[in-house]
Amino acid sequence: MAEENAFLLMENISKSFPGVQALKEVNFEATRGEIHALVGENGAGKSTLMKILTGALIEDEGQITWRGKPVKINSPSDSQELGISMIHQELSLIPYLTVGKNIYLGREPSRPIPGFIDWKKLYSESQRQLDQLNLDVDARADVHDLSIAQQQMVEVAKALSLNADLIAMDEPTSSLTDKETEILFDVMRHLKEQGVAIIFITHRLEEVFEVSDRITVLRDGRHIATASTAELDQNKVVELMVGRELGEMYPYSPTEQRETVIEARNLSDGWELHDASFELHGGEILGVAGLIGAGRTALAETLFGLRPVSRGEILLSGEVVKFHSAKQAIKNGLGFVPEDRKLQGLFLNMAVRENVTMSATSLVSNLGFVNSAKADKLADQYVEKLDIRTPSLRQRVRNLSGGNQQKVVIARWLTLQPRVLILDEPTRGVDVGAKAEIHGLMRQLALDGVAVLVISSELPEVLGVSDRIVVMHEGRITGRFDRDEATQDKIMLAATGGENNAS
Ligand SMILES: Nc1ncnc2c1ncn2[C@@H]1O[C@H](COP(=O)(O)OP(=O)(O)OP(=O)(O)O)[C@@H](O)[C@H]1O
Ligand SMILES: [Mg+2]
Repeated sequence: MAEENAFLLMENISKSFPGVQALKEVNFEATRGEIHALVGENGAGKSTLMKILTGALIEDEGQITWRGKPVKINSPSDSQELGISMIHQELSLIPYLTVGKNIYLGREPSRPIPGFIDWKKLYSESQRQLDQLNLDVDARADVHDLSIAQQQMVEVAKALSLNADLIAMDEPTSSLTDKETEILFDVMRHLKEQGVAIIFITHRLEEVFEVSDRITVLRDGRHIATASTAELDQNKVVELMVGRELGEMYPYSPTEQRETVIEARNLSDGWELHDASFELHGGEILGVAGLIGAGRTALAETLFGLRPVSRGEILLSGEVVKFHSAKQAIKNGLGFVPEDRKLQGLFLNMAVRENVTMSATSLVSNLGFVNSAKADKLADQYVEKLDIRTPSLRQRVRNLSGGNQQKVVIARWLTLQPRVLILDEPTRGVDVGAKAEIHGLMRQLALDGVAVLVISSELPEVLGVSDRIVVMHEGRITGRFDRDEATQDKIMLAATGGENNAS
């Protein structure tokens, strides 16, 4: 690349946290008008490197050069002044402020009289940013009324409004639908044409190959490779990321047919779920496929007592049950790993140990205090079982990498030893290695006799892990397949409401 095109040079960057060296002498560069994918397993150091670039963290050692000049980036405002902005992996919007106020937070346009904010301008400008992204979002709406995907797109709008020369995007697509992802890719390509450099972090390698020009791979805090996307393929990238032979992605061993554990008969929530009937046996994984909004989460929430049943019934081991709360469902042996783990599953400021054990201890101990040694033992057991990478049980969950946070939530549910485990998008944001581990774990649970219901938007995953598959469309079950007969085409057809063999 020509010298004048090299926007950013990061050299020999090292960063340690207590018990972890997150980055070891990493080199990274980004040039004008490129989309540079940054990939690696959970905990490889991707977010840390980007936080150093944008001043959220300070490197222990190393040198950053920006447009030919050495720079010190000590705070987010330093990086903003240089023309660098970032979309964070964790949503950083303030829920009880409007979208417009969030976009212009800390740099509100002022009226001619100093000290007075020009609200009209703030809202018209932020609305313009939103409209450019084809978003149906009102700049005056409160952020907490938006869906996660919409919030993610507001983050994008915010980064764009800074007119940055470089934008680092840390897993911006992890909660977007395919359609929103395509909109974002169009925006990225457009920015690239204008000469902006984009650093794109994602765990979906298809996305990397769809949109990036170059790829850098990190592993265990080290720089492993940088190459143009055209020279690589997915297998090669996985090999570089993992640095070892991967276990089989979808380990399958059929389990013996056991009795029906849970059954839904004509289940409706009077809103997004209509007339759903199915049986789930112990020892079996039932995959639920469908497009976003097909009613899969509604099904899970209705089974779990989070939504009232308006029609139909749920049977547990043949007996009709009515759950009026999640607590009742849990008492009856159900577990539910929700889709939005940051909001519903994790206590970020608490330690790994507390996060893993809190459900088990609150159910088990009726005296109200926790036996510390027992909690340690329980937490240890699950940290090992799920290969959660943490320097200690006392580490705050906030400090774990995204994928390891995910495993913490799953661990907590496993401590309850549920008879029925519902998992909603369990491997979203999880790297290939951890994904294989979670798949293996699900199969192991089935072998142990648990009835597993898994919702996934990734067809290869549904096809790979399930014994049987139901497909949903507009709140109804529109397809049912045994493992042997299921194909991507058949599922897609049912998911889009085409002719099918639903019974
Ligand atoms: N504030 C912190 N305190 C302690 N350890 C941290 C902190 N931030 C990150 N780490 C550790 O540094 C390592 C790198 O984490 P980082 O978040 O950069 O990974 P990542 O590549 O972004 O992973 P993911 O794909 O899961 O988001 C991990 O071992 C993580 O636990
Ligand atoms: Mg990260």
